[in-house]
Amino acid sequence: MSVLITGVAGFVGSNLAKKFIADGIKVVGLDNLCRGDKKNISELIGHPLFSFHITNLCDLDTYAEIIEQSHVDEVIKEVWHMAANSDIPAGITDANIDLCDTFMTTFNTLELMRRFGIKIISFASSSAVYGDLGDLNIDETTGPLFPISNYGAMKLASEAIISAAVESFLDGAFIFRFPNVIGLPATHGVILDFIRRLNSSKKLLEVLGDGNQQKSYLHVEELVDAMFFIRKNSSKKCNYFNIGPGDDGVTVRFIAEKVRDVVAPNALIVYGKTNKGWVGDVPKFYYSIEKLRNLGWSPTLSSEQAILRAVQEIYEQETGF
Ligand SMILES: NC(=O)c1ccc[n+]([C@@H]2O[C@H](COP(=O)([O-])OP(=O)(O)OC[C@H]3O[C@@H](n4cnc5c(N)ncnc54)[C@H](O)[C@@H]3O)[C@@H](O)[C@H]2O)c1
Repeated sequence: MSVLITGVAGFVGSNLAKKFIADGIKVVGLDNLCRGDKKNISELIGHPLFSFHITNLCDLDTYAEIIEQSHVDEVIKEVWHMAANSDIPAGITDANIDLCDTFMTTFNTLELMRRFGIKIISFASSSAVYGDLGDLNIDETTGPLFPISNYGAMKLASEAIISAAVESFLDGAFIFRFPNVIGLPATHGVILDFIRRLNSSKKLLEVLGDGNQQKSYLHVEELVDAMFFIRKNSSKKCNYFNIGPGDDGVTVRFIAEKVRDVVAPNALIVYGKTNKGWVGDVPKFYYSIEKLRNLGWSPTLSSEQAILRAVQEIYEQETGF
């Protein structure tokens, strides 16, 4: 049996593929490389358990041909759907980006799962589905869900269509609502952005927003561990979980200072005036993971510890030191 991973050349998808292959499970990986990079999966290319196809999931016919061919070689038992737009501001400027990369990739994936009789989907959703709820402690029963970005809206629409597919043809769906995830290989995100800015100008770090945005951060190793735990231990038809570090998070100011200390200790940090980094940015969220704790999984790193580790890791990725 094999699993299909969409977005396999991205940050989370490449980590997932490595984990499956280390466990001896065959992976069919798809990506159009719009934001991912082949170097993220370079150690897997040529591995007997890995096949990689460059394709846009919005092109249904080509997507179908790849599944049909792979399915003949070895039955695909489930799909881990990680492909999406990961640039929220870009999706605000051009709503087609999230319509295609965040929603249509899900729509087409489900269409082909129905066609080829693949019955289990694991889906990378996001805290962005909840919208801006200020100081509210968000759990999985929180509602109504009013996202404030096209990205969040298309993630919520993806959850909705997965739920409808559970009613009609899926045996199981696993909807993981990620917080901010950090670690290697970094393809985007606040730490990578700050390191690149400071590498190009050692004197000044300009931060989007006033620095008081406060969010929780989970290391990607813990994220993958949590997803595998849920997949193994939750057995409803539709399983949906917040995944996070279970703390109040850290501020952007904290991250900026930690990156500055590592990359350019003498740099001046200049903050913006508003509490949002960009349109669609949720300035603060408190994320309950009680449901996940009750299932039996707990994180080992706090947001602060995850940030400190990821700053070092991403600095090494960017500079080789
Ligand atoms: N990293 C986070 O902090 C975070 C937080 C919440 C949710 N998520 C979700 O987790 C998943 C993985 O995110 P990531 O951080 O690895 O992002 P990423 O950008 O590194 O990976 C996404 C991958 O999907 C691919 N892709 C996008 N559109 C595609 C298309 N039309 N056809 C084929 N491939 C396509 C990209 O090339 C990229 O390799 C995404 O669904 C994202 O929305 C991530």
